Amino acid sequence: MNILAIETSCDESSVAILRDRQIFQLTASQIDVHAQFGGVVPEVAAREHVPVMIPFVEQVLAQAGIKPEQLDRIAVTAGPGLITSLLVGVETARALAYGWGKPIFPINHIEGHIAANFLVHQDIPFPAMALVVSGGHTELLYMPKPGVYELIGATRDDAAGECFDKCARILGQPYPGGPAISKLAASGDGTQYSFPSPMVNSNTFDFSFSGLKTSVLYFHRDHPDAKLEDVCAGVQEAIVNSLHLKTVRALEQYDAQALLVGGGVAANPLLRERLQTLDIPVFIPPLEYCTDNAAMIAAACRLHNTPTELFAFRADPNWELTPR
Ligand code: KG4
Ligand code: ZN
Repeated sequence: MNILAIETSCDESSVAILRDRQIFQLTASQIDVHAQFGGVVPEVAAREHVPVMIPFVEQVLAQAGIKPEQLDRIAVTAGPGLITSLLVGVETARALAYGWGKPIFPINHIEGHIAANFLVHQDIPFPAMALVVSGGHTELLYMPKPGVYELIGATRDDAAGECFDKCARILGQPYPGGPAISKLAASGDGTQYSFPSPMVNSNTFDFSFSGLKTSVLYFHRDHPDAKLEDVCAGVQEAIVNSLHLKTVRALEQYDAQALLVGGGVAANPLLRERLQTLDIPVFIPPLEYCTDNAAMIAAACRLHNTPTELFAFRADPNWELTPR
């Protein structure tokens, strides 16, 4: 099956073709554009997506060596995400599906992050637990089988990636903050400064990261000369500790046979290391499929059988991944 997928939910413009196990993908990152503003500017992000869409579609078709008539499906991220960014991908996909007469599959971005694991890992046992950690989301989902989700925990305020980004900004580091903090933390000592791991004493599987950001703000104000590498290591430790601990508790309560991790924060080396110590198989995609990419949207599309009527759906910035 040849699936053309488009992902434009935030600041990566990505187009992919998935054919069985072969992936052809082009991704344009807007990081340099947004870095000068210290974070993603939604209107700018949407405008940056527009000029790359059709050239990328033409180029991936050429790379895969197929013609539009050989496509079986068109998949597109329809939410959650930035509404103006989502609209660019959704309307491009709709126009192509209309022009080429192809079935269209609106895909949930969170499902895409989880499905990134199916691109590279075989024989994942179910039921499974999924931990999605990105710039916009921090969620624990129980999956009785592929494509079925029960949301059991989520962040009550900032997402884990957002916390990395905001702490980096406080510490004078560039956007995106996750890679910047983890790079500095690699040569720091995470035990020098201890920051609160939020919600670890609460009985829910929910997360909260805004308090940590505030504590870093006051710490930096009061200790401007603290060794940056150690501060970054402390911040990373607090975030990873909270993610790890809630995941362990969820696994104690649910009969999961595996943990699937996804989202940009899954690129974090300490998180990857810590999660690998769990006593069930842990699946994490390679780095290029952790951050936003269209191949993961094509992988999620394969979990569905029925296309959506071409004009029966819209981009939904708040689309929650609910049980089906
Ligand atoms: O999944 P993603 O590409 O976009 C969203 O769906 O949000 O995730 C982006 C987030 C950013 O907050 C970025 O700082 C974070 O992933 N991130 C990391 C690392 N690489 C990217 N966070 C921690 N450590 C990293 N190495
Ligand atoms: Zn994402």
